[in-house]
Amino acid sequence: MEFSLGHQPVLLQEVISALRPQSGGRYFDGTCGGGGHSFAILDASRPDGWLDACDRDDEALVAARTYLAPFAGRFALRQGNFSEVDKWVPHGSCHGVLLDLGVNSHQLTSDYRGFSFQHETAALDMRMDRSRGTTAADILNHWEPAQLERLFWDNEESHARRIVRVIIEVRTTRPFETVGQLVDAVRRAAPGRPGRTHPATKVFQALRMVVNEELPSLRQGLQSAMRILAKQGILAVISFHSGEDRVVKEFMRQEARDYDLPPNEPDLPHLRRMRAPRGRLVDRKGIEPSENEIAANPRARSARLRVLEKL
Ligand SMILES: C[S@@+](CC[C@H](N)C(=O)[O-])C[C@H]1O[C@@H](n2cnc3c(N)ncnc32)[C@H](O)[C@@H]1O
Repeated sequence: MEFSLGHQPVLLQEVISALRPQSGGRYFDGTCGGGGHSFAILDASRPDGWLDACDRDDEALVAARTYLAPFAGRFALRQGNFSEVDKWVPHGSCHGVLLDLGVNSHQLTSDYRGFSFQHETAALDMRMDRSRGTTAADILNHWEPAQLERLFWDNEESHARRIVRVIIEVRTTRPFETVGQLVDAVRRAAPGRPGRTHPATKVFQALRMVVNEELPSLRQGLQSAMRILAKQGILAVISFHSGEDRVVKEFMRQEARDYDLPPNEPDLPHLRRMRAPRGRLVDRKGIEPSENEIAANPRARSARLRVLEKL
């Protein structure tokens, strides 16, 4: 199947088996991208399932609108952050919610969005929603050295200190504007080794995640998703990064427990405040792509799907 953004939806069969879309059901795709998963949800919920979908990226929505045209009248698309879905989708109304985190293929391959270290002349932008927010260049040019070091270190960049030293040296003579400038700075600090992942991979990922406030959006989005789900509704989340997956795993485990803890307290029996569980873990370890899927779509390699049923 061809997708309008050239994007192959990851773990597609697994997502559809988890959501079990049905005619008459209502679904929310918070990361519509080019519409790959949305298409399959609409297809499986013929003849009259309904889909609300959003993306922060205006270009993705243009592609999705065209791709989903065969289902006109059965879906609504809007530009927005899934963290705020509880402001526009009625609470308790949805039978399934999907969040397929991260970036879409167009963002990664485009030569002007700044997400990829391969397009060196692109501006260092990296915003999914280009109508608001701070760009990657703003961060590189204005953050304190210690803030930058923490950002890269938290994203498992072991050369964080050396890289920040070079960034500070470069920006005192000329502000960062292009992808090429950042790639050169990282290479000077930590050249990497041939055949290994690109030395700027983690720096780019850390900047993208902070530019788009991805972890705060995810934490808020998981809460919002639970509000719009009906009882027995399914929350399915695909993450591509250990930091994201940790947030999803901890959230789902907490929903499935029968107690709360006071903030920042260890899990000790006498501190537990008992309550009814709000969810049921459908799969304890999460679902990973098959070897066949990884061979056909290497981007799927780091994907993990976690599923929770609302009680
Ligand atoms: C991995 S792609 C989704 C691909 C899509 N499932 C498909 O099959 O075509 C992730 C998409 O989520 C969007 N996105 C990421 N974080 C978002 C957020 N907090 N709110 C809305 N959209 C977001 C990105 O712009 C990107 O288009």
